[in-house]
Amino acid sequence: MDLTKEDSLSLEPLDKILTSMPNAGFGELIPILQKIQVAYGYLPPSVMMAASSRTGIAASRIYGVATFYEQFYLEPHGRHTIKCCRGTACHVKGGRDIIRAIRRILRVQEGETTEDMEFTFETVACLGACALAPVMVVDGVYYGKMTSRKVNFVLDSVGTGGKETA
Ligand code: FES
Repeated sequence: MDLTKEDSLSLEPLDKILTSMPNAGFGELIPILQKIQVAYGYLPPSVMMAASSRTGIAASRIYGVATFYEQFYLEPHGRHTIKCCRGTACHVKGGRDIIRAIRRILRVQEGETTEDMEFTFETVACLGACALAPVMVVDGVYYGKMTSRKVNFVLDSVGTGGKETA
């Protein structure tokens, strides 16, 4: 990622964040980045550069933290995050069919966001719920013993508050 990249984002949200955290330094960097992400939806390069100049924290240190933690997004991210497991337990129980169904329904590949910015689709090595294989997670909610047919139901339920259980 090019930290010098210019964009036209307003720095007003950043200034509000930093005003609410006077004298913030490296020790407060994670909460600063969390607030920036809430305000902008991700961590735009120009905002990280501005945060560096306003706080005195080196841009390289900000970038290092932003890339270390999975919670931070360096690209625009969808309103909903779908994580699908590609681990062994899920794979042998049909996990590839779930991944294919998500790709087909949303018309995205792993790591991509739908054009309407509703969904970002990610795959992970293991979601830590192998007994429920195959597993997908939407906005932190686990859906186990998935089938490709259930993918439609789960995606439809997002935004309506509906939750399907295993
Ligand atoms: S392998 Fe899929 S949850 Fe562990």
